[in-house]
Amino acid sequence: MPRKNIVILISGRGSNMEAIVRAAREQDWDSACNARIAAVISNRPGAAGLAIAAQHGIATAELDHRSFADRAAFDAALAQLIDGYEPTLVVLAGFMRVLTPGFVMHYEGRMVNIHPSLLPAFTGLHTHERALEAGVKLHGATVHYVTAELDHGPIVAQAAVPVLPGDTPDDLAARVLAQEHRMYPAAVRRIVDGRVVLDDGVAVHRDGAPSVFLGDFASH
Ligand code: GAR
Repeated sequence: MPRKNIVILISGRGSNMEAIVRAAREQDWDSACNARIAAVISNRPGAAGLAIAAQHGIATAELDHRSFADRAAFDAALAQLIDGYEPTLVVLAGFMRVLTPGFVMHYEGRMVNIHPSLLPAFTGLHTHERALEAGVKLHGATVHYVTAELDHGPIVAQAAVPVLPGDTPDDLAARVLAQEHRMYPAAVRRIVDGRVVLDDGVAVHRDGAPSVFLGDFASH
């Protein structure tokens, strides 16, 4: 059976990418589910995550969006680069680019994203600030399949954390990020294992496993 290649796209720090890479190594995804992280690609040259990926012996590439005439030209070059790795799954991990409909369609059903809110609340940027302004008591992150509409698409998993009195946006971001690092590797593995399927626009976990991750509520 052909190897399942995972290509991860980043723009910066790459801590979610690193969490996935570590899980793949610790759980030996190679033997366990015939999957490997084939490459990590950044649209920002020198993104910190690229060095981390290289330290793990993973192929890396930079494709600077600023050197392309427009969004379509960048997305076409990016798709060509990604497709060189024959990906089973494309994983957006802090990839801060709006994607063209053509690019999204090309990877329909095989591209996922992590967004730092409990979607459909707080699509877009500055989610932690906006959650605090709105006074929500529960916040979190969502792994979802990517569709043409920004920060929409079938939800694979969600992680929830409490919002605490006196939280700053950074406090909340750190609490959410800790859960992102638990959830994203687990969700990616479930997808490459074939345990998540898309059924009429809904992501279904075939074994009925829970798709909810909870932060440590007990201590609050
Ligand atoms: C993460 O919190 C991720 O959810 C968010 O960017 C951060 C990337 O951190 N993604 C988005 O805002 C996408 N719209 P990382 O580079 O350390 O993984």
